[in-house]
Amino acid sequence: MLPVIVGITGASGSILAKKCIEKLVSQGHPLATVCTNAGRYVWEAELRESFDDWIKGLPCQHYHIDNIAAPIASGTFVTQGMIVIPCSMGTLASMAHGLSQNLLERAADVIIKERRPLVIVPRESPLSPIHLRNMLTLAQLGAKLVLPVPAFYAHPKTLEEYIDQTTGRVLEALGLTGLAPHQRYAGDEGTPFSKTMGRK
Ligand SMILES: Cc1cc2nc3c(=O)[nH]c(=O)nc-3n(C[C@H](O)[C@H](O)[C@H](O)COP(=O)(O)O)c2cc1C
Repeated sequence: MLPVIVGITGASGSILAKKCIEKLVSQGHPLATVCTNAGRYVWEAELRESFDDWIKGLPCQHYHIDNIAAPIASGTFVTQGMIVIPCSMGTLASMAHGLSQNLLERAADVIIKERRPLVIVPRESPLSPIHLRNMLTLAQLGAKLVLPVPAFYAHPKTLEEYIDQTTGRVLEALGLTGLAPHQRYAGDEGTPFSKTMGRK
């Protein structure tokens, strides 16, 4: 298995990054992680724990955001792809324009130039034309933009169920298995709703 890069930024939703990394570790994927300074701040504010302490306990290779000499800064270091979760509008803008101002942005730039899978989980509301333009640019470059929105058809009852479903979709966007069979939409046969929409 090739390593998966997980980039964490200062958008709200640190729990999504935590769950995503936990899933990848439990599946035995080699991992390289990098977190922006704002990402470390928001992690602590939202999860009431230090990101640095948490990541230290995991079997993954964590790189400091200023470590521009890390292997993930080069295209010769082959990876499965990269997930940026949650993705701030600041990092989104930098990635859309190839700024490479820190290790996370450089790693994303490498992924784009090498045409490897890039999965971005942007989080902001409402979205400005600037955000939308940058998302379009990244989508046109081949990135998948997976919004952290609930799949209401799955009837999530708790925040945990929403987080599980959302991070599952993120892993699937990278080509990995992320969803359990019961989390996949299987049509409406056998339900009281199967007779709507003009079907017999
Ligand atoms: C508690 C908190 C929540 C934030 N949530 C978001 C968010 O959801 N989306 C966003 O684009 N920025 C959000 N921000 C602002 C970013 O953290 C800020 O723009 C930062 O400079 C992003 O830096 P980074 O892209 O290097 O992580 C939030 C900031 C704080 C303190």
